[in-house]
Amino acid sequence: MRILVTDGMDKSALEQLRKNGHEVVEQFYQPDQLGKALRDFDAVIVRSATKVREAQIKEAAGSSLKLVIRGGVGVDNIDVKFAEANGITVKNTPKASSNSVAELALSHMLSCSRFISIAGHTMREGKWEKKAYEGFEIMGKTLGVIGYGRIGQALGAKAQALGMTVLAYDIFKVPGLECATMRYVEMDELLQKSDFISIHTPSVDGKPFVCVENIAKMKDGVVVINTSRGSNVDENALLCCSRKRQGPRRRPGRME
Ligand SMILES: NC(=O)c1ccc[n+]([C@@H]2O[C@H](COP(=O)([O-])OP(=O)(O)OC[C@H]3O[C@@H](n4cnc5c(N)ncnc54)[C@H](O)[C@@H]3O)[C@@H](O)[C@H]2O)c1
Repeated sequence: MRILVTDGMDKSALEQLRKNGHEVVEQFYQPDQLGKALRDFDAVIVRSATKVREAQIKEAAGSSLKLVIRGGVGVDNIDVKFAEANGITVKNTPKASSNSVAELALSHMLSCSRFISIAGHTMREGKWEKKAYEGFEIMGKTLGVIGYGRIGQALGAKAQALGMTVLAYDIFKVPGLECATMRYVEMDELLQKSDFISIHTPSVDGKPFVCVENIAKMKDGVVVINTSRGSNVDENALLCCSRKRQGPRRRPGRME
């Protein structure tokens, strides 16, 4: 097959495709040039930068293009219905990055509990604010996971291994997952009891999870992590509320 790779791909994956006899072209196209370019390929592999929308699919429809692959989870950069209505299959790689994103979320939790970013930054300014950025342990704390799918569960397992209790909120409850250190709860309980909240749903229509109303229900000093989609957080509300509540010595459960 002739395969177009628009947003880059790991060298080993490119080599594997070529070894399997495919012709692979690496090239990014601007949106107004992509549709025409796609006509020369059997498949295109994108990540998130390239948008394969109705306009591009219309131009490519009826050509050799049979397959659009999104290297990643969310397919919100592809008009899936329109592509499939035009005989073009759309696939993604839902499991490939689950552990990586879970590790990223965990890194943020550890970094925030030790104020690593701000402490490192102020130290480079010549300050030594040891007292102001006194950290706290995550062991024994509660992690609220909104969206307990592949990434949420991977993070949940790591958090439990580190001695945390996990509260999960999901519209779909997987039977058999609950145990002494993990249970499904309603959103209000998650908001009220969590020291850390991590979001792992797709982009959800309607009110974002992190909004004025929900922030008001959270503990003071809660750490909120979003590695899902930006639309799940009302950033203005977050900024406004954290300015009101934030202090340099924030610790879970402690009122400032
Ligand atoms: N930061 C990154 O690099 C990166 C990489 C991969 C995926 N992601 C994002 O992470 C998110 C989760 O990915 P995943 O692979 O775990 O997906 P998944 O489909 O395995 O899990 C998502 C979970 O969210 C639940 N859910 C959906 N709508 C909900 C709602 N309104 N309320 C509560 N729960 C809801 C689903 O039931 C499901 O269990 C996606 O938004 C994805 O785009 C980010």
